[in-house]
Amino acid sequence: MNKKIKCQFPLFYKHPELIYLDNAATTQKPQVVIDAMVDYYTDYNANIHRGIYSSGERATLQYEQARATVAQFLKAEVDEIVFVKNATEGINLVTFSYGLQHVGPGDQIILTEYEHHANILPWQRLAQTVGATLAYIPVRDDGTLDYQVFESMISPKTKLIACAAVSNVTGAYTDIKKIVDAARSVGARVLLDAAQLVAHERVDVKKMDVDFLVCSAHKLYGPTGIGALYIKKPLADQMAPYQLGGSMVFDVDWHHAHYAKAPYKFEAGTQPIAQAIGFSAAIGWIEHQGIDVIAQHEHALMQLLLHSLMTMPHIRIVGPIEQLESKGHLVSFVVKGMHAHDVAAYLNDAHIAVRAGHHCAQPLAKKLGIDASVRVSLGCYNTVEDIEVLVDKLRSL
Ligand SMILES: Cc1ncc(COP(=O)(O)O)c(C=O)c1O
Repeated sequence: MNKKIKCQFPLFYKHPELIYLDNAATTQKPQVVIDAMVDYYTDYNANIHRGIYSSGERATLQYEQARATVAQFLKAEVDEIVFVKNATEGINLVTFSYGLQHVGPGDQIILTEYEHHANILPWQRLAQTVGATLAYIPVRDDGTLDYQVFESMISPKTKLIACAAVSNVTGAYTDIKKIVDAARSVGARVLLDAAQLVAHERVDVKKMDVDFLVCSAHKLYGPTGIGALYIKKPLADQMAPYQLGGSMVFDVDWHHAHYAKAPYKFEAGTQPIAQAIGFSAAIGWIEHQGIDVIAQHEHALMQLLLHSLMTMPHIRIVGPIEQLESKGHLVSFVVKGMHAHDVAAYLNDAHIAVRAGHHCAQPLAKKLGIDASVRVSLGCYNTVEDIEVLVDKLRSL
């Protein structure tokens, strides 16, 4: 299956030697995604929601069709999807547009200890601005969350819980139901950072019952510069626009403006039109392959990798091995006596691309006492041979 897939990615034609194992950072793009964007620029390039002429109307139609595709993919309603630059911008938008108005002095925001900086820093600023407190669900030694402690942290002061669906460091999956049930018991809202989930598991925002969800297209075989923010209805009505400018208004006077409804009130200025069209093409491509088929393939490769790593005494896995075995798609490890950057450089000499560092989760790295680890993250085009070559190189370290 993966050979048939790999040939759809032009980068691997140019670099047939490349073993790309940094999919949690960004994924490669299939030809159909590139074609969809080139088609926009070469055939109907125009701004959207403005021109009463054919290319403008076609561009608008494609952009709005892209929104409908994202909505269908996440099982949301079309007007619950806001296009943002990436997951990071989606979180910043929620802290500004929702947090500033609904979180006050003495209120509590709960995060987890395995958040990416993108899901820490905006909340730190919100807490400092409004006088709220931040609390973190502890990560246990095996990399999973301590839900018992979490349940003791929840109180009527909890206004918002923001957590990653999958840790980009340990690969641990969050028990979303536990988080949402606890939040509902005190009337708190839940933001799910699905950056590491959407390319690996089917998402259903209605079943998950989260209030906000963010993801980036570039981790889903789509282009950079675009992501999606889901805002459950009717929450958007209680939220202020994030940026102000063209397109997001209904009526403007010298001293007042009447903003458009969601999602338009959150999309000020000219939007990343080609990227939205590319995002839609990426979702179409994934749906065609079957997200469950991709997930099964990745899990099989992960099992193969884990079983080999566990036989190497110089390697220590940083993460919940049992959970990774059943559904993981990324794993981090440290090599005894060797810095992670040196391991990555050594692998690069063999054309193997992995990530090394703190993975934008410095507080977790400090807690685990690991300043840097090596991360291998899988995508749909990885092959058994990719894993075999990697394992071979790691054995000979
Ligand atoms: C869990 C998680 N959240 C958020 C982000 C931020 O994504 P982006 O840089 O696309 O905004 C990342 C990126 O690696 C991530 O892994």
